[in-house]
Amino acid sequence: MSSICIVGEAWGAEEEKARLPFVGPAGWCLNKMLEEAGIERQRCYITNVFNLRPKPTNDISNLCGKRADVTNNLPPLRNGEYLHDEYVPEVERLWEELRAGSPNLIIAMGGTASWAILGDSRISKIRGAIAESRFGKVLPTYHPAAILRQWDLRHVTVLDLMKAKREAEFPEVR
Ligand code: URA
Repeated sequence: MSSICIVGEAWGAEEEKARLPFVGPAGWCLNKMLEEAGIERQRCYITNVFNLRPKPTNDISNLCGKRADVTNNLPPLRNGEYLHDEYVPEVERLWEELRAGSPNLIIAMGGTASWAILGDSRISKIRGAIAESRFGKVLPTYHPAAILRQWDLRHVTVLDLMKAKREAEFPEVR
């Protein structure tokens, strides 16, 4: 794998067609920010927590139910929303990818990626700070789709990506 692994949430319409991550509008937004931060996209390994499109509304809530509806022990993905058991293999596939690739740095884009890797989806609280995980060093930051909805999140995300470029030079937390 590359020294940087970027983890998103799930496919949108374009990604579902191409069966590739970040090839639609969020991918365009990501590309521009990576460019500004001096990170070459081709040198990054890019993946998602869910390699599927959460139908019908692209909302991750479509994959969730109440605590009583699930038997897995994953923490809630959002307030009171637990991942349905049938989607747990997707999260395990992500964990396997991260273990196999052992990148110097994982960039967790958004609450869902942070939840899957760190067990914490409170992205506005944890973004920008290096965290340690069982898969190595992680930098959580905002998701490009959130930036397309709220443009003032972009500036700080580019700064996070600049930090990511520096942190990706070495695997350890200094
Ligand atoms: N959003 C994501 O999280 N991943 C994609 O691949 C596309 C949009």
